[in-house]
Amino acid sequence: MRGAREKMESAGSGGEGGSSAPKGLKSGGNHHDWDNHHHRHYSGLAVRITVLFVTVGIIYVVLNQSAYPTKFLQNSFSFMSDQSIPSPAINKENDLENTLKRAAMKDNKTVIITTLNAAWTEPNSIFDLFLEGFRIGNQTENLLNHVVVVALDQKAYSRCLEVHHHCYALTTAGIDFSGEAHFMSEDYLKMMWRRIDFLRIVLELGYNFVFTDADVMWLRDPFQRFFPDGDFQIACDHYWYNYTDLENSPNGGFNYVKSNNRTIQFYKFWYAGKDYFPGKHDQDVLNMIKFDPFIKDIGLEIRFLDTAYFGGFCEPSKDLDLVITMHANCCIGLENKLHDIKMVIDDWKRYMSSRDRNLKTRSWTVPRICG
Ligand SMILES: *[C@@H]1O[C@H](CO)[C@@H](O)[C@H](O)[C@H]1NC(C)=O
Ligand SMILES: *[C@@H]1O[C@H](CO)[C@@H](O)[C@H](O)[C@H]1NC(C)=O
Ligand SMILES: *[C@@H]1O[C@H](CO)[C@@H](O)[C@H](O)[C@H]1NC(C)=O
Ligand SMILES: *[C@@H]1O[C@H](CO)[C@@H](O)[C@H](O)[C@H]1NC(C)=O
Repeated sequence: MRGAREKMESAGSGGEGGSSAPKGLKSGGNHHDWDNHHHRHYSGLAVRITVLFVTVGIIYVVLNQSAYPTKFLQNSFSFMSDQSIPSPAINKENDLENTLKRAAMKDNKTVIITTLNAAWTEPNSIFDLFLEGFRIGNQTENLLNHVVVVALDQKAYSRCLEVHHHCYALTTAGIDFSGEAHFMSEDYLKMMWRRIDFLRIVLELGYNFVFTDADVMWLRDPFQRFFPDGDFQIACDHYWYNYTDLENSPNGGFNYVKSNNRTIQFYKFWYAGKDYFPGKHDQDVLNMIKFDPFIKDIGLEIRFLDTAYFGGFCEPSKDLDLVITMHANCCIGLENKLHDIKMVIDDWKRYMSSRDRNLKTRSWTVPRICG
């Protein structure tokens, strides 16, 4: 999924929606007026969705006395997204529930999920570096037992089976995600939204997850750093304020989500933005809906993760003693990304092997080409 990063890049470096503007520039009215305009409409959307499903639900209950409306409400969303349709070439073992069960941490039903397409699973491409990150990280290698690779095409699936235990093929009838999905192309957008819809299914199956793009290097165990009381915790391109401040600039490439009614409702709401804001990708829509009263109403607790721990090329953490993950965001082009991720790996190896961890050995030499 080469395209995945291009999204973050533009989000990180760009002026869209003003989300990356420095703190001092944010007082201007434009940004907020524009946002409020959208919020009102989006609340209207929530009402319309509710009306639609209540109506459909009533019809269903009339037809089937024993059905429980809320159960129907959940099911009714499932048909919107065909769960994966295994093609004949895909292994019969391709069963989502089994895959999650095998990969989950036993104590708390938590999995780590990444999505990959053919372009990123070529040998010596992003996937190999992703796996290497876990191996060179401090006590992160065991986490690989909990990583589920969601392959978006047949080639990525076969390659996953060669090198990893938990592979799942998420194919979509009539769409080929194997090639380069150019930033904001139609296929790119479909791929991004497919991911949101898929993650909602994971939540409905009762699994908590950390979603990670494959160009995130896991160098320490993140679980101690997550907030105990957050439902939806997300890394940032830029961490401007504090961990609850919605003005932070989230990056959809790394998030920790607990499975509960609030998060399931939130993912449905988010996904509905696909049709409500045509041509926008999931991260843009997240920035629009994060202020929506709907979020408060359902009681969703959002937490933003500090770039001091969960950094990226947009805003690298300054102290390797603190780093947990390093994301190759703010980077356009696969070759550039590969180059700088290799530098991350070299920096980290140098840091881990140095006896004297002074200020110099505790900082990155990246980004070089990216950033
Ligand atoms: C879940 O359990 C694993 C051990 O199985 C532990 O390492 C991890 O920290 C736990 N995660 C949370 C969020 O409690
Ligand atoms: C690696 O993890 C161990 C155990 O948590 C810790 O004692 C050690 O200081 C860590 N090393 C670094 C470089 O963070
Ligand atoms: C975080 O920022 C928000 C909004 O500026 C503020 O209301 C809140 O008190 C702050 N929280 C903490 C923990 O500082
Ligand atoms: C959602 O709420 C219903 C009732 O309000 C409850 O029975 C159910 O266990 C909840 N589901 C989750 C995943 O928390």
